Amino acid sequence: MSLYLETERLILKEFQDTDVENIFKLDSNIEVHKYLGNNPIKTYKQAEEIISFFKKQYQENNIGRFAAFEKDSGNFIGWSGLKLNKGNKESLNGFTNFIDIGYRFIPSFWGKGYATESAIACLNFGFKEMNYEIIYGAAETANIGSNKILQKIGLKYVNDFKVENTDAKWYELKKTDYDQ
Ligand SMILES: CC(C)(COP(=O)(O)OP(=O)(O)OC[C@H]1O[C@@H](n2cnc3c(N)ncnc32)[C@H](O)[C@@H]1OP(=O)(O)O)[C@@H](O)C(=O)NCCC(=O)NCCS
Repeated sequence: MSLYLETERLILKEFQDTDVENIFKLDSNIEVHKYLGNNPIKTYKQAEEIISFFKKQYQENNIGRFAAFEKDSGNFIGWSGLKLNKGNKESLNGFTNFIDIGYRFIPSFWGKGYATESAIACLNFGFKEMNYEIIYGAAETANIGSNKILQKIGLKYVNDFKVENTDAKWYELKKTDYDQ
């Protein structure tokens, strides 16, 4: 069964091969990558690889980032959602094999509440449909917006840590706390 969610203003669904141009627009943007290691993609081939990675996650883990589209315009705005970070390659703050929540949008769609709206729907999906016990979140300390959203949707600050020498903050939300 393919992943699909609707919020008031957005449709969230699995990435398809046809989203290569969309991912290129998102991930080649310098502003978008300011707090993501400052390494935007440069080629369509890289965008294709990102889509392949998303699709592999859906198949192997039954979860992965959702492609987000505005209901009104049909425009692709970016992605939001849950991901299983697997193995040492994707370990963070000493954690391996954990579910994290994240979001990444094209700048012309920032400031409209889409990160909050989509992340709330994804948390609900994670706890109610996927039955995850705990969902984690991380953001570079300087990424004020992202830190604010993680707190706003209910994650609790746990500790500061480093991502490749950059200061970052770690958050978590347990299902037991979410249910209350
Ligand atoms: C971070 C990001 C997802 C925010 O998306 P968004 O849809 O603009 O966020 P929202 O509109 O839901 O904003 C939620 C709150 O954060 C605040 N906020 C968002 N960006 C902010 C910023 N740069 N500085 C200060 N506050 C900010 C909003 O004002 C809002 O506050 P409010 O609830 O008090 O009104 C978006 O800027 C983005 O895609 N950035 C690039 C990728 C990225 O950094 N992802 C996160 C990696 S950890």
